[in-house]
Amino acid sequence: MKKITVRENGSSTISENMRNHLNVIKPDVVFNLGDYRIEGKAVMERTRKLKDLRGVFQDKTAFGSEDPERVVYSVQSCRPVSEGKEGGLFFGTSAIMPGKIGDEYLMTKGHFHQKSDRAEFYWGVQGTGILILMDRKRNTWAEEVYPGSLHYIAGEIAHRLANTGAAKLIVGACWPSDAGHNYDEIAIHGFSARLVERNGKPELVASSE
Ligand SMILES: [Fe+2]
Repeated sequence: MKKITVRENGSSTISENMRNHLNVIKPDVVFNLGDYRIEGKAVMERTRKLKDLRGVFQDKTAFGSEDPERVVYSVQSCRPVSEGKEGGLFFGTSAIMPGKIGDEYLMTKGHFHQKSDRAEFYWGVQGTGILILMDRKRNTWAEEVYPGSLHYIAGEIAHRLANTGAAKLIVGACWPSDAGHNYDEIAIHGFSARLVERNGKPELVASSE
């Protein structure tokens, strides 16, 4: 049976042998509903530690007292086509650890998309958190994330996840393969609001930076 590689990067591939007429085969990738890991071919994983998130949290003293090797979140993605290819889709999960730096919840870097009109779906899988959203006019708002919550993130909207619970927050995602990630804009300007704990509850407050 001829096997065609559709993914050029890395060692993993997704085969197209399922296209043979009348074939019924097992998929190359599964989303494990036991531990919510993506397993199979063309799966990538990236871990972000505190040392990768310099400048993200407001409380520099609290940040400096933490172990820079502390894992904040990891992202798995299944990329059946090359990054940047128009018309394809990527599927992924983000797993954000519980905890805070000062009064600010652990969170992802946040990004606009490189092709900034590209939209994305997020959905809550495990744990509780907040999806922080910001438009181009720097209006910032948020949606509660919990198992089963579904979030449509329109184009031109920056997005970031924060874990406000005691367990690991896991969120699924599906986005266009040509969306890309623009982290720089958030790294330079940040969001216009921060998610902090006030009286034991998460609250969005205007950023003082
Ligand atoms: Fe995104």
